[in-house]
Amino acid sequence: MQNEKKRLKLRSQRWFSTKTLRGSGHKSRIFQLGLTSEDIDNKPIIGIINTWSEINHCHSHLKDRAANVKTGISQSGGVPIEMPAISLAEVFQKPSTMMYRNLLAMETEELLRSYPIDGCVLMGGCDKTTPALLMGAISMDIPTIFVPAGAMLRGHWRGQTLGSGSDIWKYWDELRAGTISENDWQEMLEGIARSPGTCMTMGTASTMTSIAEVMGFTLPNASSIPAPDSGHSRMATYSGRRIVEMVKENLKPSDIITKNTINNAIRILMALGGSTNGLIHVIALARRAGINLELDHFETIGQKTPFLVNLRPAGKYLMEDFYYAGGLNALMEGMRDLLDTDEKTCTGRSLGENIQGQKIHNSEVIKTPKKPINATGGLLVLRGNLAPDGAIIKANAADPKFHEHTGPAIVFDSYAQMSKIIDDPKLKITKESVLVLRNSGPIGGPGMPEWGMLPIPKKLLKQGVRDMVRISDARMSGTSYGTCILHVAPESWVGGPLGLVKTGDLIKLSVRERTLNLMVSKTELESRKKHLTKKPARFSRGYGKMFSTHVLQANEGCDFDFLQTNQEITPEPYID
Ligand code: FES
Repeated sequence: MQNEKKRLKLRSQRWFSTKTLRGSGHKSRIFQLGLTSEDIDNKPIIGIINTWSEINHCHSHLKDRAANVKTGISQSGGVPIEMPAISLAEVFQKPSTMMYRNLLAMETEELLRSYPIDGCVLMGGCDKTTPALLMGAISMDIPTIFVPAGAMLRGHWRGQTLGSGSDIWKYWDELRAGTISENDWQEMLEGIARSPGTCMTMGTASTMTSIAEVMGFTLPNASSIPAPDSGHSRMATYSGRRIVEMVKENLKPSDIITKNTINNAIRILMALGGSTNGLIHVIALARRAGINLELDHFETIGQKTPFLVNLRPAGKYLMEDFYYAGGLNALMEGMRDLLDTDEKTCTGRSLGENIQGQKIHNSEVIKTPKKPINATGGLLVLRGNLAPDGAIIKANAADPKFHEHTGPAIVFDSYAQMSKIIDDPKLKITKESVLVLRNSGPIGGPGMPEWGMLPIPKKLLKQGVRDMVRISDARMSGTSYGTCILHVAPESWVGGPLGLVKTGDLIKLSVRERTLNLMVSKTELESRKKHLTKKPARFSRGYGKMFSTHVLQANEGCDFDFLQTNQEITPEPYID
C-alpha cells in the first residue's frame, strides 16, 4: 500500500501504470531501451537535457559528464534518460544564439512535458543555454537541477594570461593598429582556448551559471568549478544523486523562485560586474516565474550592491582564479548581509545554510563589502529621448572620461555598412565622435546580435585611441568592454528614436544623471518621425517568422509574448 502511494506520485506512472493498450505499448518500448519492470514500477525517471553537440566548443565534455550524472541517478535509485536538445554554440551560430534562446526554452519545456519524466537535470553553460534551459524548466515546473558546463582553463601566450573574448578584442585592435604581427595573432588564437568549457572571463556564461546557482538551481559552488577539474565530474555525479531526492521531495522550481531569489540574482550580477546580457535573461527568468521585473529594479539594487569580483573584462583575473579563491560560495558568504539567505535551494536547504562558513582564500580576487572594488554595481540603466524604454551601460568597463560626454554622431544603418566604411581613411571622425549602430535589435538584427562593441576606426587606433562612446540597440558579448551603450529600447527597426539620429547630431551621455539624449529639438524630431518608413519583415517563414512576430523588446526580456507566465497553464498531455 505504501509503495502504491509512492508510485502514484510519479508523473511517469501516467504512461506506465495504466492497464490499457497504449500503456502496454509504452511498457514494451521502454523494455526495448533495456529497462525492466522494476525500473518503471517505482523509480523516478530523470530526463537529462544535454546540450552537448560536436558543433558546440564549450560543451565538448558534456557527453562524459552526462555519464557521471547517470551514475549518480542510478546510485540514488532513479532511472536516467538522456535527451539531447539544440545546442547554442555562441561563436558559430548565426545570426545570433539570442535568436535561438527561446527555441531551446520551448524545446526544453516540451521535451519535459511530452515524455514520461519525473525530474530533470539540465546540462549547459555556453551563454544563452543556461537561461534557455531554466526558462523551459521553470515553465514546466517539475523538479530541476542544473549542471553548469564550467569554465575552461586560463589562456596562455608567451608567458601572458589570456582571457576569452576580452583579449581577442584587445589584441585584434593591436593587430589593426600594427603593434602585433599576423604570426603573433595566430599563436594567440591557438593559446586562448586550451580546454573544454565555457569562456573563462566573467562573460555571459559565468554570469548566468552563477545566477543559476544563487537562484538555487545548482549544488553549492557548482558554477565556479573549471570544466576540466575532476571536481566537475564529481559535481555531476552528486547532481544526479540529488535530483532523485528532489523528485521524492517534490521540490520544484516554483518552490525555489521567489521575488527574493530574483533580487539575489540581481545582487550577484552586480557584485560580479557581470554581463550586460544578464539583465535580459534575469527579466525573462523572472517573468517565466510570474514575477514582473522592470529594468529600473536593477538600478535600485545596483545602488546598494558593491562590485566585488576582480575578473576580466572589468578586472584582472579569470574564472580559474575565482574558483581557487573560494568561488561563488565564498563571495556569497562574504556578502551574506546583502543577500536574502532564507531562500530554499535545490539542496533542500536554504542559501544561507549552503554557504555557511565558506572562506575567501585570495582577497585580490574576491572582495568584501567592507573593501569593495566599487561601492556600487557597474550595470546602469540610462533613459532619455534616445532610450525611452531604457538602455544599459557597463560603467565599470568603460573609460571614466567618457562617463560625461557630448559628441557628434556617426550613424550606421547596418553592421555591414559599418564594416565597409569604419576603416576608410576619409571617414570624418574624431575621438569625440559617438558611433551609432541601428537596426540591430531583437527584430531588426535579427536576434539582437552582439555587435554593440563597435570597432574603433583604424586611423584612431593608430593615434592611440582605445575607447569611444558607442550606442546601439544590439547587445555586446559579456567579455567585451568599452563605453558601449546597449539594448536601446524600443529598437529602431520598430520605430525607436535611434532611427531618428542623423550623422552630425550631438548626443549627450551622462552616467551621473543616467541619461542619454539626442540634442535635437522636439519639433525637429517630430518632423523626422513623419519621414520614417515601416521596415519590412525580416522573415516570411519558419522559426524566424515566429521569432520576429512574437519576440518582446530587451527591457521585457526578449521572451515570446505567448510564453510568459500568468497566462493559461499548458495542460499536461492526455495519455490514452
Ligand atoms: Fe561559449 Fe563563450 S563561447 S561561453
